[in-house]
Amino acid sequence: MIQTMQQISTIAEMRVHIKEARRQGKTIGIVPTMGFLHEGHLSLVKAAREKCDLVVMSIFVNPLQFGPNEDFDRYPRDLERDRELARSAGVDLLFTPEVSEMYPKPMLTNVSVSTVTEQLCGKSRPGHFDGVATVVTKLFQIVQPDYAFFGQKDAQQVAVVTQMAFDLSMPVEIVPCPIVREADGLALSSRNVYLSAEEREQALVLSRSLKHAEKWLAEGVALDEVRGRIIQMISEMPLAQIDYVELLTYPDLSPVSARTPGQSIIVALAVRFGKTRLIDNLITTI
Ligand code: PAF
Repeated sequence: MIQTMQQISTIAEMRVHIKEARRQGKTIGIVPTMGFLHEGHLSLVKAAREKCDLVVMSIFVNPLQFGPNEDFDRYPRDLERDRELARSAGVDLLFTPEVSEMYPKPMLTNVSVSTVTEQLCGKSRPGHFDGVATVVTKLFQIVQPDYAFFGQKDAQQVAVVTQMAFDLSMPVEIVPCPIVREADGLALSSRNVYLSAEEREQALVLSRSLKHAEKWLAEGVALDEVRGRIIQMISEMPLAQIDYVELLTYPDLSPVSARTPGQSIIVALAVRFGKTRLIDNLITTI
């Protein structure tokens, strides 16, 4: 589908479009991204297209959510390509602000969500979810969406943003969308481009171990034993360095040691292959 899409880079201009859409009684959906789009992002646009009259996608590599030694500078960017992908996926408004537009002065305000940020990526990447919560709040203020679409690959991000929207009575529904995978199981991520052929091959252990975990959980294997088996499988890959392998309740991310029937849990993995840190997860009921 080729259609008209407008690219907007200032908050003031976005507000004009949003005001007009509201005047026309349109429902508004936002797909927040950091660009370098892949099929995962496009599946979010598809979900937004089905639910909303106006689909806004933001592309903004948010410096607030990167630690000092992380990959902000080398994060992959290709606006030209993203523009075409967004247009053909059916985005109406593409919001591409510069850092100076979003943060013209040092930020003195920080949105911080507790408890659900204290484990997994929140523990390994201090400050990361403050940066996410702050920029997402800002995007919501600018776009005033009825719906916001997030991929479940970043399951902790979904939990954090959902909690934040609830706690702050934000008039938006957070819509989680399923993980999109390559045919061989690798979860799509903009960071996959960093992987060498050998690293990519070994990274398949993530989805493979989650598939096994699903089976072991269904068979009634104890949760600690499932965790141990996953660690064992990943450790067999010489290039893999485990950041975490955790089984927690979902979406509240509390420790879980014994089985409670009907309990929703997440099996969450973060593993480095060379300089690339990949995450993947399985959410299931035990
Ligand atoms: O998931 C992402 O790409 C980012 O964390 C988000 C939600 C766009 C905020 O910068």
